[in-house]
Amino acid sequence: MAPNVSLVIVFLICTAVVSVTTGHEDGFTVELIHRDSRKSPMYNPSENHYLRVANTLRRSISRNTAGVVTNTVEAPIFNNRGEYLMKLSLGTPPFPIIAVADTGSDIIWTQCEPCIDCYKQDAPMFNPSKSTTYSKVSCSSPICSFTGDDRRSCSSTSECMYSISYGDNSHSEGDFALDTLSMDSTSGRLVAFPRTAIGCGHDNSGTFDANVSGIVGLGLGPASLVKQMGSAVAGKFSYCLTPIGSDDVKSNKLNFGSNANVSGSGAVSTPIYISDKFKSFYSLKLKAVSVGRKNIFYVRARSSILGEANIIIDSGTTLTLLPADVYQNFAETISNSINLQRTDDPNRFLNYCFATTTDDYKMPHIAMHFEGANVRLHRENVLVRVSDEVVCLAFASSQDNDISIYGNIAQINFLVGYDINNMSISFKRANCVAM
Ligand SMILES: *[C@@H]1O[C@H](CO)[C@@H](O)[C@H](O)[C@H]1NC(C)=O
Ligand SMILES: *[C@@H]1O[C@H](CO)[C@@H](O)[C@H](O)[C@H]1NC(C)=O
Ligand SMILES: *[C@@H]1O[C@H](CO)[C@@H](O)[C@H](O)[C@H]1NC(C)=O
Repeated sequence: MAPNVSLVIVFLICTAVVSVTTGHEDGFTVELIHRDSRKSPMYNPSENHYLRVANTLRRSISRNTAGVVTNTVEAPIFNNRGEYLMKLSLGTPPFPIIAVADTGSDIIWTQCEPCIDCYKQDAPMFNPSKSTTYSKVSCSSPICSFTGDDRRSCSSTSECMYSISYGDNSHSEGDFALDTLSMDSTSGRLVAFPRTAIGCGHDNSGTFDANVSGIVGLGLGPASLVKQMGSAVAGKFSYCLTPIGSDDVKSNKLNFGSNANVSGSGAVSTPIYISDKFKSFYSLKLKAVSVGRKNIFYVRARSSILGEANIIIDSGTTLTLLPADVYQNFAETISNSINLQRTDDPNRFLNYCFATTTDDYKMPHIAMHFEGANVRLHRENVLVRVSDEVVCLAFASSQDNDISIYGNIAQINFLVGYDINNMSISFKRANCVAM
């Protein structure tokens, strides 16, 4: 088991700094920044709403076709185009970075000085020699095994090294080390986790964006942020995603600990399965999808890749990807039961699009039937507006051998809670913009 780092909450009162250690009852919330939103370094004020939506869909589709599952990549679905970012600081004094928040991988890493081979990064780079709390991890330390066997190696001086490859063949490697990781909570506190295992990447290549300095893995493996925070946050995080393409000043929220509770009226839960092959994924069992009361399409397990489960939930994938025959059946049924004219996608990304200038059309009752959790989808979860005249089905077919993914449009305006102690995911309808 991972030795849990203790949670230290530092209250910043004027210039006096008081440090308080809290029990695991406490929760905190940080911002989860959509890459196209005003708070993101990638925000481009000259893009209009529909261009942002088109870019998001394009990234989703290239993510889907970038060789999602091969035998050589260990974190198959992630690529740098992940949709959400978070701010955090590493070391002492705290060095701020912006990184991609990824629920499909584990390791927390940033580009580090000195670089052997780094991608271009606009922001200054973390220099471990300037942090008084940075320490390398020995190869024999149990912490070194957090990386996973196939990602671990030993330096000539017996220090732990990690190497991680992503679905688009991007990769990062360097020292696996311990340092303080801290985050600004939305209540104004600095929340610090001493001795967090992080990857100090000296050799990072691929299609990483110059505006991000690394990745925060929020997956299920031992190196992930939530796993390392452990009992300090009771193994829980949650988020509530607002509709895509909005340049709202308000950002999404990522909640930890008791702030991440998803309970009460309307909350439903489904078990998380662990896949032997992809231990970082939150794999779920989707038993059926339905349109109206009669049409239920059973989803059988496709391959043994996910073991007993058949779909993963991911915040960084925009569309929901279903097995080809289920998708086809589902899309045709919606198409036949919605009172709108079929039309082409002006961007040519999506197959099922409909002409409507209003969002006040009649929708059939559409639901995802996860094991133990029926999740009713609303208009904004099913159809995405791509122009003033056209809405398109935010679903696509997963390729042969690929994994089905429950994407972020389907999660809009739901409080989605991940509980790794109880190994369950909960959904509750919410108005995320108001949260
Ligand atoms: C990074 O963000 C800035 C705006 O702050 C933008 O001008 C630049 O193009 C971005 N770089 C990349 C690689 O997206
Ligand atoms: C969250 O749930 C835990 C355990 O069920 C409980 O102790 C805590 O009070 C809850 N917190 C909130 C904010 O609801
Ligand atoms: C634990 O998960 C199950 C679903 O697998 C759910 O029914 C139950 O409510 C969860 N318990 C808690 C305390 O969240």
